[in-house]
Amino acid sequence: MAEKTVRVCHYHKLKICYNGDVYPCCITPPYTRIGNIFDADIYEKIKNAKILCECSLYKSIEPTKDDKINLKYIHYETSNTCQASCVCCYQSKEPMPNEKEHLARLMEIIDYYKPENIFAIGGEILVQEDAFNMLFDLHKKYPNMGIGTITNLCVGEQRLKQAEQIFDKITVSMLGFNKQSYKIHMNLDFDKVMNNFMTLYNNKKVELSPKFLTMPSNIVELPEFLKWALTLDVNKIYLHNVGSFNQEADWNSKNWQNILCRIEKQIKGLLEDNKGLIVSKNRHFISIHPFLAQKLNITEEYIKSTGLGCNMFIAS
Ligand SMILES: C[S@@+](CC[C@H](N)C(=O)[O-])C[C@H]1O[C@@H](n2cnc3c(N)ncnc32)[C@H](O)[C@@H]1O
Repeated sequence: MAEKTVRVCHYHKLKICYNGDVYPCCITPPYTRIGNIFDADIYEKIKNAKILCECSLYKSIEPTKDDKINLKYIHYETSNTCQASCVCCYQSKEPMPNEKEHLARLMEIIDYYKPENIFAIGGEILVQEDAFNMLFDLHKKYPNMGIGTITNLCVGEQRLKQAEQIFDKITVSMLGFNKQSYKIHMNLDFDKVMNNFMTLYNNKKVELSPKFLTMPSNIVELPEFLKWALTLDVNKIYLHNVGSFNQEADWNSKNWQNILCRIEKQIKGLLEDNKGLIVSKNRHFISIHPFLAQKLNITEEYIKSTGLGCNMFIAS
């Protein structure tokens, strides 16, 4: 496993949640909460926060007087408004009561820190007019600022074109890998999403990362997804799962053990057959969620022994 980077995490990255709470990273352990965007002294709080924590990639230490805030990322959440209806999502799709104030305050914070990159995530930001327009304004004001999002990408031609203008990086969440599965899991149109994905892919302006969210009802589609994703020159491939994955099935039953065993064989076959391609990416290219990794017996030892080394990692 690669060595952890030791740094003052919140001097490099901030995560701003839906309720305006500010954290040093996307994992948001409660003890790492720094404050809220509406706190009058939020900038002081960020500067003075002492957060000691560790994840699989970083070890966060106290700032010294010589450390300066130089944000590489601000990752923020907007309302939960979304056009999809995912079986695993229990969020209210209502807009935020203070959406305009929330967006305005986010803009102030971005203006203050001028981070290298922002990562904006809904709900579904591609269907949220105010949040989407704010990204247009940001892009106009800071054309060199990297802008990324996670989306279901199920939008019309015009919105896709607009998205292509402003986003540098897009991760596409997929809760299935065929038409019927998409309808059942997300109530979305698989063909539309695949057409949109391939349009962006062929135009080569946006860095794309396909992300499969595994559930018991779609796990058999995971090998097909990986097979497809490995044919593409994409930034990253996510083999992830819904948060409640471990509780969603009696995974230790004989039937599930048989199914998992067959899927493991297919996934490992794909990884090993495509080892050269994966290693050539020279970065963390495949991210697998620990729950899924455990079900498929993909361990750190397996990753190391197959020579996938730093190109595949078990996400924390
Ligand atoms: C709720 S989604 C909303 C963003 C966007 N509409 C999308 O489809 O990715 C935000 C993030 O949660 C992930 N996600 C969606 N449902 C999830 C679930 N039940 N458990 C864990 N992650 C989930 C998505 O892949 C994405 O990374």
